[in-house]
Amino acid sequence: MEDMKNKEFFNSLINKVIQGDCLEIMRKIPDNSVDVTFADPPFNLKKKYNSYYDKYEVDEYLFWCKEWLTEMVRITKPTGSIFVHNIPKWLIYFGSYLNEIAMFRHWIAWDAMGSPLGKTLLPNHYGILYYVKSDRFKFYNLRMLHKRCRKCHYILQDYGGKKKQMHQFGPLISDVWTDIHRIRHKKRRDEHPCQLPVHLLERLLLFSSDEGDIVLDPFIGTGTTAIAAKRLGRKYIGIDIDTKYIEIANKKLQETEPTMINGCCVSVFLDNVITIRDKDWNKIKDAFIISEDPMELEKKSIHLLRKDIQRRKGKYNKLFFEKSEETENYWQKISIFQNLDKSI
Ligand SMILES: C[S@@+](CC[C@H](N)C(=O)[O-])C[C@H]1O[C@@H](n2cnc3c(N)ncnc32)[C@H](O)[C@@H]1O
Repeated sequence: MEDMKNKEFFNSLINKVIQGDCLEIMRKIPDNSVDVTFADPPFNLKKKYNSYYDKYEVDEYLFWCKEWLTEMVRITKPTGSIFVHNIPKWLIYFGSYLNEIAMFRHWIAWDAMGSPLGKTLLPNHYGILYYVKSDRFKFYNLRMLHKRCRKCHYILQDYGGKKKQMHQFGPLISDVWTDIHRIRHKKRRDEHPCQLPVHLLERLLLFSSDEGDIVLDPFIGTGTTAIAAKRLGRKYIGIDIDTKYIEIANKKLQETEPTMINGCCVSVFLDNVITIRDKDWNKIKDAFIISEDPMELEKKSIHLLRKDIQRRKGKYNKLFFEKSEETENYWQKISIFQNLDKSI
């Protein structure tokens, strides 16, 4: 009976972002029911949240963290993934605990550029711990765009005599991420002290889950994880203690649309596709203008043939690229344009 009640409760949470205490809510979720859990808890750094006190004694903070980490692992499916974002100071404790109840995969170093804090090295990276529960975990290789010189656009990595083997989109993604920046512009930020970029979450979800999978974030803030999930065709459950953040998240979710190219989910930032699944490249490559000559590719960035972007209220992009009969004329125009482009 209790199990039935919990299952019903769980189903009622799907595709919702709700106000509440994450521990209370997660405790009612059945074991092994979520595909991906991602947590970005308060860092206990005296940040000014709307309604959350962010300064506990170390023991108190760690005790609390162990409780929600336990719940995250319990509710994640054996094929699923568990991610925890924090500063290295806390992640070393979390890792030592998670090693007892789950299987370590990676410490992803997100180079997000910090500011000097006195007698310390410049704290330039956040960590994202990546754990799984069994050998049956889902995993897909991803590719990121080639890094290029801002001025001359040349690819920065030296491929030496192996330019012909260079992938047209870009290299496989490693465990060090330097191409995703924190949201600094005020006009792109919500009223939240530590909002994460959506494309950071999209990268995690693209390699660890499939369309239709369920993603849960117990500290959703203004909705970043849910937005990433919705853009990639995943289902989401978001929890935050603060009503104001929940309101902002729900408003943004209403304006969020899937981001797809020829039926494949991709991650887009500022009208550029920045992360793809390796296995999708053959399906989506005809959506880009690309030089076949590796020497040319080295000098010139690839870009989308068609940017069908509707800016809704100027903030959230819809980029939906489908080749269809309706767009045939457009494609003809594009191929003329493409020839022009190549002849420059
Ligand atoms: C670091 S922020 C998460 C930011 C989020 N990743 C984003 O991109 O907007 C931590 C969030 O945890 C929320 N929070 C604190 N204690 C909580 C609890 N017990 N249950 C649920 N949410 C909580 C805070 O209100 C805050 O929004």
